[in-house]
Amino acid sequence: MTQQKTSIHGLWSSRLIFILAAVGSAVGLGNIWKFPYITGEYGGGAFVLMYLVCISLVGIPIMVAEILIGRRGRQSPIHSVPAVARESGASRGWTVIGWMGALAGFLILSFYSVIAGWALAYVGYLATGDFEQQSAEFVTNQFSSLLASPWTMAGWHSLFMILCILVVARGVHRGLEQALRLMMPLLFILLLVLVGYSLTLDSFGQGFAFLFQFNWNKLSSDAILVAMGHSFFTLSLGLGAIMAYGAYMPGNVPIGRTVFWIAGIDTTVALLAGLAIFPVVFANSMAPDAGPGLLFKTLPLAFGQMPGGTFFGALFFVMVALAAWSSAISLLEPMVAWLVEADHMSRPQATVLLGLLAWLLGLGSVLSFNHWSDLTLFGKTFFDLLDFLTANILLPLGGLLIALFVGWFMREALVRDELLGNTAPTFSYRLWRFVLSYLSPLLVLAIVVDFLLKLF
Ligand code: PHE
Repeated sequence: MTQQKTSIHGLWSSRLIFILAAVGSAVGLGNIWKFPYITGEYGGGAFVLMYLVCISLVGIPIMVAEILIGRRGRQSPIHSVPAVARESGASRGWTVIGWMGALAGFLILSFYSVIAGWALAYVGYLATGDFEQQSAEFVTNQFSSLLASPWTMAGWHSLFMILCILVVARGVHRGLEQALRLMMPLLFILLLVLVGYSLTLDSFGQGFAFLFQFNWNKLSSDAILVAMGHSFFTLSLGLGAIMAYGAYMPGNVPIGRTVFWIAGIDTTVALLAGLAIFPVVFANSMAPDAGPGLLFKTLPLAFGQMPGGTFFGALFFVMVALAAWSSAISLLEPMVAWLVEADHMSRPQATVLLGLLAWLLGLGSVLSFNHWSDLTLFGKTFFDLLDFLTANILLPLGGLLIALFVGWFMREALVRDELLGNTAPTFSYRLWRFVLSYLSPLLVLAIVVDFLLKLF
């Protein structure tokens, strides 16, 4: 066996740093912005339950699979997958996992940066006290006027993309590790403060019930597809981001336990964000299905009424931007690593090129909120389409292929070597292998096929 001990891009310095990087990738706009608004759109409890089922039966097993391919291959996904396939005597055709992932990552980065730009804009609004003692109407109008100005949005989108390019060009370790050490715990604390505020509202119970009361009637096949798609999106799975990070994971770190930590933290942050947001929604008679603006229409209102809200509000959106930042770099890293490995260009050149392309495409999403808002396909704007295509189609498809590859085609000796070392297979190993080979692919297939059947 030709196991690689290290990668040309370097390794994370410890298990903790790997967890930090992977949590940095997983926790992002998906948790704080997207999870609450899709939960609102798809009716709450039943959606949340489905999401939790998908995290457990699909997300966690596939995350283990991604990390182990990455660590075995020690390169970018486009190179690691064929390397592992070769070692397993499987077809090189599996490289499609890497290519499809690169495409999905690129598309996601383009609109992700636009939304992260909103968070940056809100740092400014909150810091200047715009929302102090304001009404729900004022806060809603402020958001609408941001959407109506493509230049402002494009400006923040550009700033965010530059920040991503700066970090990835330097190599991930030097820039981000330090910032994340401080910021992730702070984000957590601020979320708790916000949940604390929500607890003081009379509508807390209503918000809580909305999130956790199951109502089966509400579970449409759309909702199930979106819940599954989101479990991929929120854990950064199906496109090779976590695989790329796995390639830099030291060989002695236990993969299984580490994955539980990552998924656990990610889910907790999402649920906390929901608990912070929905009571505010109901306290102000707002609609839970306000769509992508939900976060930006609710929390500023809460901050506006809190003592010290100007400071904490600005700080909160700084954290949202940071969480988005640490996710966005993991969207860029796999493709940059690939270009560097292929000797096409240096790391800074590759980063600038890819960042620039994603920025350009992002302008399409900027315009889809104003000038192009009427330009729709299947009732979806450019932004909606990219979001739907990536989260609900490309990521689940990528995840399905990863599960099939590791479950059925990767030589089991290699899998055991990564997961168990020299020890005998444990119960949790067998359980994981069973779920990954049968349950996860079947569930993904069933959900996608069910959705397609109802479509036609
Ligand atoms: N997981 C990130 C979030 O929840 C988004 C992301 C998806 C990042 C895919 C990397 C890869 O915000």
